[in-house]
Amino acid sequence: MIRSSDKSYPRFRIINMFSLLFLGIVFFNHLPLDCLAQMKGDKYLSRIDSLISRMTLQEKIGQMSQFNGFGGQIPDQFREKIKAGLVGSVLNEVDPVTVNELQRIAVEESRLGIPLLIGRDVIHGFKTILPIPLGQAASWNPELVEAGARMAALEAKSVGVNWTFAPMVDITRDPRWGRIAESLGEDPYLASRLAAAMVRGFQGNHLSEHGRIAACAKHFAGYGAAEGGRDYNTANIPENELRDVYLPPFRACVDQNVATIMSAFNEVNGVPATGNEFLLRQILRQEWRFKGFVVSDWESVIQQVTHGFLPDLESAAAQAIKSGVDMEMASTSYADYIPGLLKSNRITEEQINEAVKRILQVKFLLGLFEHPYTDSSEYPPLVNDAHREIAKKIATQSVVLLKNQNKILPISSQVKKIAVIGPLANAPYEQLGTWIFDGEKKHSITPYQAIREYHDGFYEVAFAKGLEVSRTRDKKGFPEAIAAAQKSDIVLLFLGEESILSGESHCRADIDLPGAQEELVEVINQTGKPIVAVILAGRPLTIRSILDKVRAVVYAWHPGTMAGPAIVDLLFGVESPSGKLPVTFPTHVGQIPIYYAHKNTGKPATKESWIKMEDIPVEAFQLSIGNTSHYLDEGFEPLFPFGYGLSYTKFEYKDIQLSQNEIPLQGQVEISALVTNTGEYGADEIVQLYIRDLYASCTQPVKELKGFKRIHLNPGESKRVTFKLNAEDLAFYNQQMQRVSEPGSFRVWIGGDSDAQLKAEFEVME
Ligand code: BGC
Repeated sequence: MIRSSDKSYPRFRIINMFSLLFLGIVFFNHLPLDCLAQMKGDKYLSRIDSLISRMTLQEKIGQMSQFNGFGGQIPDQFREKIKAGLVGSVLNEVDPVTVNELQRIAVEESRLGIPLLIGRDVIHGFKTILPIPLGQAASWNPELVEAGARMAALEAKSVGVNWTFAPMVDITRDPRWGRIAESLGEDPYLASRLAAAMVRGFQGNHLSEHGRIAACAKHFAGYGAAEGGRDYNTANIPENELRDVYLPPFRACVDQNVATIMSAFNEVNGVPATGNEFLLRQILRQEWRFKGFVVSDWESVIQQVTHGFLPDLESAAAQAIKSGVDMEMASTSYADYIPGLLKSNRITEEQINEAVKRILQVKFLLGLFEHPYTDSSEYPPLVNDAHREIAKKIATQSVVLLKNQNKILPISSQVKKIAVIGPLANAPYEQLGTWIFDGEKKHSITPYQAIREYHDGFYEVAFAKGLEVSRTRDKKGFPEAIAAAQKSDIVLLFLGEESILSGESHCRADIDLPGAQEELVEVINQTGKPIVAVILAGRPLTIRSILDKVRAVVYAWHPGTMAGPAIVDLLFGVESPSGKLPVTFPTHVGQIPIYYAHKNTGKPATKESWIKMEDIPVEAFQLSIGNTSHYLDEGFEPLFPFGYGLSYTKFEYKDIQLSQNEIPLQGQVEISALVTNTGEYGADEIVQLYIRDLYASCTQPVKELKGFKRIHLNPGESKRVTFKLNAEDLAFYNQQMQRVSEPGSFRVWIGGDSDAQLKAEFEVME
């Protein structure tokens, strides 16, 4: 094992750190057309077969093994290993000279000359950092998200990286979980659309296109359902929920021909995901006919022993191979135990050949046998203006305006003096977010810098941090912050979480603003100056306590390299906010899990039925009649619902129309509504379609997103926005685990968030 310590922060690891014959006709139905064309003539297939027939067992195991890089070094021992054909992939090596040397050893000095897969967590940008994936999800803009992934692929490929461990498509409904930052939110439909977009962005139409890299949908599966939002924790997910909620984004990636899938760290219903034949063989390979390869997560093969699932590493290797984990990341149980396992017939030669074929297929599709080396000069420079522009555009569209009392935003031209306060106003590293192995703060433009750059001379700008970092309780900066506020007409208060407070294994039990930030809001509020809170964070934070003290809340997530220009354009009205929440915001951590697509229960809560704790008489007789599903102290409603987000203009929704009120089971219905911009600004709106299956053989959520469109309306302009729904869109998994569309009554809503009120009903007839 090369990883020195599981406890080291991931970013420190870099420092230490495919005929017809064998895959069947179905395979061709699942490849993009141009890929198919390349496959005709059996170009790769015969080469793969020929290679495999010449490979020793050790060389096959080599292909199935991935090792961590050495931070720009190639120790002699590792050189020999590659030469001997014992390495299939290297991760975390991003120096182009070193990467080319690694490839040269593999291609020129190993017996069979098989190039390496160079893996890297290119999660939200490579050098030019995009908003964290949760932020990108708030843009509800698949085209833009695709452009972002394309840009990230181009930058990564220029240094020789040909495989990213992204997109992460784990659905999560728990903001305590640190990796929510890396997720596409709580909703299977939204996440599926965006996950597919990311795969297209990374992989293009064909993996061998210039600047494309293999994608990896992770973590299969159920990782985001960790109990208590604590990373790596147990996940217990009923099978129909697994299939209806957690698996669709993975399916969407498979439908986009994602090259690889990563098995998860967690156990699901008692079986570790990395040894899970149900997930990896039955669902992924048999049901979905996935043709790429599966890589384990970091040491997740050997962790099957730690989970208490298997007695020893040998069994762990056997189980992962039986399950279809083709490549082992970081640990070496395949290298150590496959020969013995074959001798004792615990695994078969066919299983090994299958894994090797899948891995070689991706190498061929990437064009690595023809072009193993990278030539950075064939690529645009890193962090170029065009890339910055994409990053800025995504950041702009990812920002969600949660409150805007008396239209304090955009900042009026009457304002002359601005105080920029807070630990995140000028924190170039912290605005980048988690998983930015290659991002550098020197490229960041902070909000404070952007205000100075764009608006100095027009406004008088005072700056004070108030708090050195987001989590400190040391209030020595308060007096300076108060003084800055007192001299100003308006206070821009940049609050939130540092990057390291979210991400892998960085979970929080309390998701309030950390440190003394609430107190900072309090003291600034006491100056009487109007406050605009801009929050940079890796997750939804419980911000109720500051809501009545601030006039506006701008939720910016961790926006990346171009945080400053994006936020400043929004604050000063160059752009109108258009982001919408991809996740429900709780009032209090105790409400978690809280998500919009919940079931109704037999006693659904209503505003009228909620009994508040303070309204209960002392020694009240215990009576449950009339009581409903709510918390005495925290009610049942979120602070902000899924899909929510304000604009500088107003959108009116009316005149919902259905193409028909009754449709046959295999039919289609069109639903439309008239959306009008009744305000003063031209702006984008994300028009959302929700449905409810009113009764079903397996109860269905009270609302489910089934469509969305980002439209632009000028002041006074109206557009009729139309969505189509067919039987497949209404289908769900029943108790027998069959995907069914059932006859019955359906309610549909069209609106600007999951609280949409404009509704209609239709019947699906037998
Ligand atoms: C993470 C994966 C990541 C891998 C390689 C693991 O700890 O769970 O998401 O791709 O490390 O860095």
